[in-house]
Amino acid sequence: MSTHIGAKPGEIADRVLMPGDPLRAKWIAENYLEDAKCYSTVRNMFGFTGTYQGTRVSVQGSGMGMPSASIYAHELINEYGVKTLIRVGSCGALAESLNLRDVVAAIGSSTDSNMNRMRFDGLIDYAPVADFGLLRKAVEVAEQRGVTMRVGPILAADAFYTDRPDLYDTLADYGVLAVEMESAALYTIAARYQARALTILTVSDHIKRGEATTAQEREQTFSQMVEIALDTVVA
Ligand code: ADE
Repeated sequence: MSTHIGAKPGEIADRVLMPGDPLRAKWIAENYLEDAKCYSTVRNMFGFTGTYQGTRVSVQGSGMGMPSASIYAHELINEYGVKTLIRVGSCGALAESLNLRDVVAAIGSSTDSNMNRMRFDGLIDYAPVADFGLLRKAVEVAEQRGVTMRVGPILAADAFYTDRPDLYDTLADYGVLAVEMESAALYTIAARYQARALTILTVSDHIKRGEATTAQEREQTFSQMVEIALDTVVA
């Protein structure tokens, strides 16, 4: 096993869906994967491997925030040879044009995290971006499924509760669609270790309008997003 994942070598597929919530990982495994087996319960951050349309796929919880997501992405890639990672999660909308339950694919991720400033010694503002091939496939899949998916830049924030909502307004002025808490780390780590990554999100709350989805609505839109992610990851 690796430091934080209790899987033996070979127990994790080379393609992985990463929800933040480990219970979402369990839900995806139970509802979409055939012959799903749990390979890790370390810290209750469940991971499962099964097959989807005949292809081996794993689902691994990542936890909330970039420090946690970085640990799982790093170990999946470097200890288990994972090559493709698709985060499936929720986001808060910043753009007026977005509505609750909309699906968003993150082409790039700005961040207020200090991780990349440390990586590049504060000399470079590194631009974490999605893998183009995965993004193109996800767009194609969404179109085939008749789901409108917005593609654009997002913010990966360290804090869920911000003292600086004015910065969210400024980012929206610069075309940033939404905020979540993991994508910049995922894109950076995937790039660093020659893996491919994409983030697909559903809008769970609208920050400017103060709206939020119910738990039942989140479940329904979660399925739509997971189906896009699964069709993309096995392509
Ligand atoms: N994920 C879902 N909603 C969010 C928000 N408002 N801020 C950060 N991450 C989120």
